[in-house]
Amino acid sequence: MAKMVTLKDLLEDELKDIYSAEKQLIKALPKMVRKASSDELRDALEEHLEVTKRQAGRLERVFEELGSKAKAKTCEAMKGLIEEAEDMMSEDAEDAVLDAAIIGCAQKVEHYEIASYGTVKSWADRIGNNRAAQLLDETLQEEGDADKRLTEIAESMVNAEAQSGNGGSRGSSRSSKKSSSKRR
Ligand SMILES: [Fe+2]
Repeated sequence: MAKMVTLKDLLEDELKDIYSAEKQLIKALPKMVRKASSDELRDALEEHLEVTKRQAGRLERVFEELGSKAKAKTCEAMKGLIEEAEDMMSEDAEDAVLDAAIIGCAQKVEHYEIASYGTVKSWADRIGNNRAAQLLDETLQEEGDADKRLTEIAESMVNAEAQSGNGGSRGSSRSSKKSSSKRR
């Protein structure tokens, strides 16, 4: 690519990385939903899928604000995080243990995104594009909310169930995958 001369050039380059990250996540989340057993976790992941689709659209608006075209440049970090999640989900594990693993993987993704959005938001601020900064901040807040919700799900139920191992204390929140797929 052309030499990056200004902070705006760097911002546009980083936005391409994040745009790729969101697109990869849109493809990966449905698999995580299918592998999750806890209703709360599935709901949270499904909701985050919808939020993530909107975030990709919001990034397109940010590109517009900067006067450039939305383009993705493979985010290798997200690729790695998703590969690790897929490895983890192919392990033979108790439902609750797998749920705890999925939450861990999803939180690594959220933390990566929080770091990325925090950075591009401050760059957008610096170059004086308030609208772009505002849009990026909206997503930053959503990623933070998703992260907190995952912590709550882990700490209020999943981790305890995983701790007891084999079948142990199944909360009423946990229903079979079959019945839950009918719900939707
Ligand atoms: Fe996101």
